[in-house]
Amino acid sequence: MNEFGGKVALVTGAAGGIGAAVVARLAAGGAAVAALDVDAEGLAAVVKGLPPEGPAARPYTADVSDSAAVDEAIGRIERDLGPIDVLANVAGVLRSGPVTELDDATWAQVLRVNLDGVLHCSRAVARSMAARRTGAIVTVASNAGAVARSGLSAYSVSKAGAAAFTKCLGLELAPYGIRCNVVSPGSTDTPMLGALLDGDAAAAAIAGSPEIFRNGIPLGRVAEPEDIAEVVAFMASDGARHLTMQELFVDGGATLGV
Ligand SMILES: NC(=O)c1ccc[n+]([C@@H]2O[C@H](COP(=O)([O-])OP(=O)(O)OC[C@H]3O[C@@H](n4cnc5c(N)ncnc54)[C@H](O)[C@@H]3O)[C@@H](O)[C@H]2O)c1
Repeated sequence: MNEFGGKVALVTGAAGGIGAAVVARLAAGGAAVAALDVDAEGLAAVVKGLPPEGPAARPYTADVSDSAAVDEAIGRIERDLGPIDVLANVAGVLRSGPVTELDDATWAQVLRVNLDGVLHCSRAVARSMAARRTGAIVTVASNAGAVARSGLSAYSVSKAGAAAFTKCLGLELAPYGIRCNVVSPGSTDTPMLGALLDGDAAAAAIAGSPEIFRNGIPLGRVAEPEDIAEVVAFMASDGARHLTMQELFVDGGATLGV
């Protein structure tokens, strides 16, 4: 497995469940990986946890919602590792609650991280990808961006926006041979899922909740982070060389083929 040999990949949200799995998958595929997150301690653990015999990942601490910090970090990554060939936008936050109780600060924070963050990172790498006429960008959005979810308005809007942004960017960058795609997970076994559902989060996600019009998961299991990482890696690889502006739902059928 050396489909990313000689390539440099940047993964945001790298200290989280899905981000760490994407780091491990791209590194296993031979990429030199820049692992970026606001959580310096979590990043150190992820980088240290990679198999010692395989390629290493380098940690970079930055807040994706701060465009100057992102530009600075990406400049540093390109100086350390070389030009970025693959960007995986994985960083995200989830805040839940009904619209009637949603305050301005929460709304703004979710959009700043989940939507502005995707703009900041994609714009910074796209400039040098366009000059080199090569690259792949994969944004991890959510199936909540495609179907209405009770108590998740800010999150859903941020993910629908991130998906739409990534497709627009794909159209702008297609003449340069750069592909931009979206991977939209459903319930995945990470700390984020635990924060959303009380008690046995996996069982609750699989069963669904008719009282809040929430579908269950037809395949009867919650995703492992590796299930998402595998599809991100495919979208970033040359195996997907004719795919751009596409959105793949990796949710065990939860969105019923939307
Ligand atoms: N877990 C799920 O069920 C699920 C479902 C659909 C979509 N997603 C999406 O997958 C992505 C990864 O989620 P996860 O489940 O691994 O969650 P997670 O909470 O384990 O990881 C999210 C990571 O993003 C980082 N992050 C948050 N704000 C940041 C910022 N401003 N700058 C840089 N990094 C920041 C966090 O520190 C954390 O390491 C998110 O975008 C999430 O919305 C998750």
